[in-house]
Amino acid sequence: MNSTRPTLLNKFVDRTARKPSGWLAKRMYSNPRGHYKSFRWTLDKLQLKPDDIFLEIGCGGGVLLNMALETVKHAKAIDHSSDMVQIGREKNQEAVSEGRVEIVQGNAESLPWDDNSFTCATANQMFFFIDKPMIVLKEFYRVLKPGGRLVITSTEDSILPKLLFVLWSHSMHLYKNSDMESMLKQAGFQTVEVKNEEWFIQLSYAEK
Ligand SMILES: C[S@@+](CC[C@H](N)C(=O)[O-])C[C@H]1O[C@@H](n2cnc3c(N)ncnc32)[C@H](O)[C@@H]1O
Repeated sequence: MNSTRPTLLNKFVDRTARKPSGWLAKRMYSNPRGHYKSFRWTLDKLQLKPDDIFLEIGCGGGVLLNMALETVKHAKAIDHSSDMVQIGREKNQEAVSEGRVEIVQGNAESLPWDDNSFTCATANQMFFFIDKPMIVLKEFYRVLKPGGRLVITSTEDSILPKLLFVLWSHSMHLYKNSDMESMLKQAGFQTVEVKNEEWFIQLSYAEK
């Protein structure tokens, strides 16, 4: 009985958040109300300009991508869930058909783009699902141009989120602000700033 529990729980975590799938997940991530504050903080921090080339990993339903495309001409995104890629493309249909945005299915640990491709990059409410954080941070560093900006919104390692997200927390990798700062520096980033925007919502900013 006990041995089936982690598998069921893992399936639940995957379907609802780590690799969302099914009609309910599509509905949730088409309009992820709980994430809009993070999207706003990300955009405030990035201060996008029309000639920015924007990258998002774990883009879910493509809502932040859609907001970014109001300013930038060109963007790319990756998500490992086929359902999220589908609704992300639907949400950004016009920009997709104009060739301004490309949304691919794949793993953020191996980005399918050349070195020095982007001027800015982001990961929102997904970094805690990354099993190999240094690999992903190094991938961000590789694909960013010199001076490129990175924003990651996540959850700081503290007791409150572990209680609030008790069903998901066994699958989440949370870091103290100081650990996140060290990892970003270790990946090569120079200007690094990690702080909590509100309660346990962690915002990391770094420049290559
Ligand atoms: C909680 S959802 C957040 C979606 C979106 N960023 C938002 O804020 O609404 C996490 C997203 O990250 C994606 N994801 C998780 N791990 C990933 C990985 N290793 N590579 C690509 N996508 C990943 C999931 O498929 C999912 O769409």
